[in-house]
Amino acid sequence: MVKFFSQANWLGLNFRDLGIKTYRRQVAGAEFYGRFYEQLQSKYSSYDDFPLEWRLQKRDSAEFILKLINDPTSILSYGCGVGFFEETFVRLFGTNFYMTDYANIVKHFNPNSQSHYVENVHLLKKSYSHIILNQVSYALTDKQLADLLSDLAKLLLPKGVLIITFSELEEFAGRKSLERVNLALRRLLHLLRQRLKGEKFQGWGWHRSINDMITICRSVEHSEIRVYHEKHQVVILLAT
Ligand SMILES: C[S@@+](CC[C@H](N)C(=O)[O-])C[C@H]1O[C@@H](n2cnc3c(N)ncnc32)[C@H](O)[C@@H]1O
Repeated sequence: MVKFFSQANWLGLNFRDLGIKTYRRQVAGAEFYGRFYEQLQSKYSSYDDFPLEWRLQKRDSAEFILKLINDPTSILSYGCGVGFFEETFVRLFGTNFYMTDYANIVKHFNPNSQSHYVENVHLLKKSYSHIILNQVSYALTDKQLADLLSDLAKLLLPKGVLIITFSELEEFAGRKSLERVNLALRRLLHLLRQRLKGEKFQGWGWHRSINDMITICRSVEHSEIRVYHEKHQVVILLAT
């Protein structure tokens, strides 16, 4: 099951304060992220300013992935955003980390990262032992994601691994009736609260179940899929 979702804020910034038109039914693209990150630079000057809960989640993700992979000689993070997850990873593991994103926002928070920032157009010039998409897949349609994974798989060194992490869709299926009602009510209340506050919504992407993600990953030729699950986070390793 796939569910399109929208958001009214992210990283402590309300979209109604961005001064741009938002589109509830269209997913945010390069232009939205570019403007959003501009505003984020004015709000935060260092990683320490980001919400603590967000930083702890990113640290958890880095630690979780670290337990799952061997011998990462050169890692590319596709869709690195502000680069905090990557910085945490490097601090814990001390490996070479390359990064790319729509917007080169990482330079604001981590000027040292520039030697490792790869413009999208230059991606093809290097190969990597691991390529991570940490919380990026939601922003792409099934087709875009399948194409991207196939393209990125071509940049892997022999025995390289694609790592896709995402938050699993909370499904109704398999739940007891009372839990279903509870979940539906929580979603409704959340929506109502945001509406009442006059929030502006921006289409954000697609929540997917693990099975949906596996189906997309299967389109990458000659790959072996392994799935790991911790709390609400899922990590899929795609070995070529
Ligand atoms: C939720 S953030 C995740 C950032 C980082 N990986 C992390 O875990 O903190 C998603 C990022 O994906 C980037 N993004 C979304 N679609 C993209 C695309 N098609 N190509 C490159 N970057 C993309 C956005 O600019 C955003 O920075």
